[in-house]
Amino acid sequence: MKHFLTLLDYTGEEILELLNLADQLKYELKHGIPHPHLQGKTLGMIFQKSSTRTRVSFETGMVQLGGYPLVLNANELQMGRGEPIQDTARVLSRYIDGIMIRTYAQKDVEDLAKYGSIPIINGLTDFAHPCQILADLMTIREYKGDLDGLKMCYIGDGNNMANSLIVGGLKTGMQVSIATPDDYRPDPKVLEFAAGYGDKFTLTNDIFAAAADADVVITDVWASMGQEGEAEKRKVAFKGYQINAELMQKAKGDAMVLHCLPAHREEEITAEVFEAHANEIFDEAENRLHAQKAILVKLLK
Ligand code: CP
Ligand code: NVA
Repeated sequence: MKHFLTLLDYTGEEILELLNLADQLKYELKHGIPHPHLQGKTLGMIFQKSSTRTRVSFETGMVQLGGYPLVLNANELQMGRGEPIQDTARVLSRYIDGIMIRTYAQKDVEDLAKYGSIPIINGLTDFAHPCQILADLMTIREYKGDLDGLKMCYIGDGNNMANSLIVGGLKTGMQVSIATPDDYRPDPKVLEFAAGYGDKFTLTNDIFAAAADADVVITDVWASMGQEGEAEKRKVAFKGYQINAELMQKAKGDAMVLHCLPAHREEEITAEVFEAHANEIFDEAENRLHAQKAILVKLLK
């Protein structure tokens, strides 16, 4: 298990192993038990997009593990002036022990892995957000005990979050139901993967059908980073693709709500539902720290 690029590369068992380790690291942190697994190790963190959670949780996580986090703003690297990713990968591999990168193209992450010789972690691309999904699965397990057999519903854009939720959910035994407008479906590669799971996966544009009897209801922004120019067009396309009280009536009475954040109230989720489920949503944000520490220990130790 050398890189963490997409959950497609991981088996359900490997995902569950990471979740177990994340639970253990969370326990140790809460009980003041030191866990310096990465003493003397350096993680470079390259950001080509904004971040609050990913940036702070990876940086803090590295410190808690006894390692050293190095934030590398892409615009301050030669990469920002056109130095090829292939060369950046080979140079950084001579100095540091791992790279976390947040960028646009999945190919950039794959190229870092191909040309470098250190573990690469995907901190979000346009295709996938695997670190977030690990935290989401961890949070669902905390509230529901077991993932196997639960129904996950996602409403909104068939974006990086949708792609990774489909893969992570199906691989861990969940039933996954996605509602998107026809023009904003998940990535064809992910749909091809999901087709192998038969009726455990459904894709519809009927949000009420998707949410029926769901154990967990999830959404994300209508316009992701890099799509700001399409924001107005997307507001029209996604009208109605919202988690609100009416939709929650269709889900199970004890259904959870998750949102990776940042959230746009009254767009993809109402303030009312958001606040009613704030504990789950902020546990989810906290679990980024623990889940990513598990990834770091697995790859860098
Ligand atoms: N959810 C998430 O990845 O948050 P940031 O963009 O703040 O890192
Ligand atoms: N889909 C969102 C997720 C942000 C964490 C984006 O890519 O901007």
